[in-house]
Amino acid sequence: PRVVVLISGGGSNLQALIDAQTHDQLGGEIVAVVSNVADAYGLQRARDAGIDAVVLPHQEYETRDAFDGALIKVIERHEPDLVVLAGFMRILTPRFVQRFLGRMINIHPSLLPEYQGLHTHARALADGVEEHGCSVHFVTEELDGGPVIVQAAVKVLADDDEDNLKARVLTREHLIFPIAVRWFLEGRLQLQGNLATIDGQPL
Ligand code: GRF
Repeated sequence: PRVVVLISGGGSNLQALIDAQTHDQLGGEIVAVVSNVADAYGLQRARDAGIDAVVLPHQEYETRDAFDGALIKVIERHEPDLVVLAGFMRILTPRFVQRFLGRMINIHPSLLPEYQGLHTHARALADGVEEHGCSVHFVTEELDGGPVIVQAAVKVLADDDEDNLKARVLTREHLIFPIAVRWFLEGRLQLQGNLATIDGQPL
């Protein structure tokens, strides 16, 4: 099976997927990495792994819909079975989401449905929560609102600041993301309405 990964930044989650692939643990092949940011370090990670790295700068498109149209073309050229959003910081149009519905997943740095949107670590700290974490979910039209596939929780420590909480959550992201991708590529995961299932059982 074929995977296209979309990124906007450092790509540490992409690296976790590449590493899983290197160890035959991904269940498929990352055939392309697409970034809307030209100098995203994740592009270098892709090139270093011999993966096709594509830049699609969103500023060059007049509308969100024009950008998403171009993005659809680039992705479909690679005929993916799964589209993975790994720190892709663009809001997607309904057309884009519909096109890949049920075969597109995202990682989000919170225990969804808590803390959808940005600045999740700072908000969790400000609220004084005891636990924080990350979630892999199917992408639906509701931003950060699609059904959750797998989560990992971390304890918030008394001396945590945004940076070290983020770093601790990231280590868990790197653990759960390759697992979710593998489940999907093995044909075990499905999006059924607004429910995610594994082996036919609701998650
Ligand atoms: C991660 O925190 C991910 O949860 C969020 O964006 C960040 C991407 O980090 N969606 P990286 O580019 O994978 O290092």
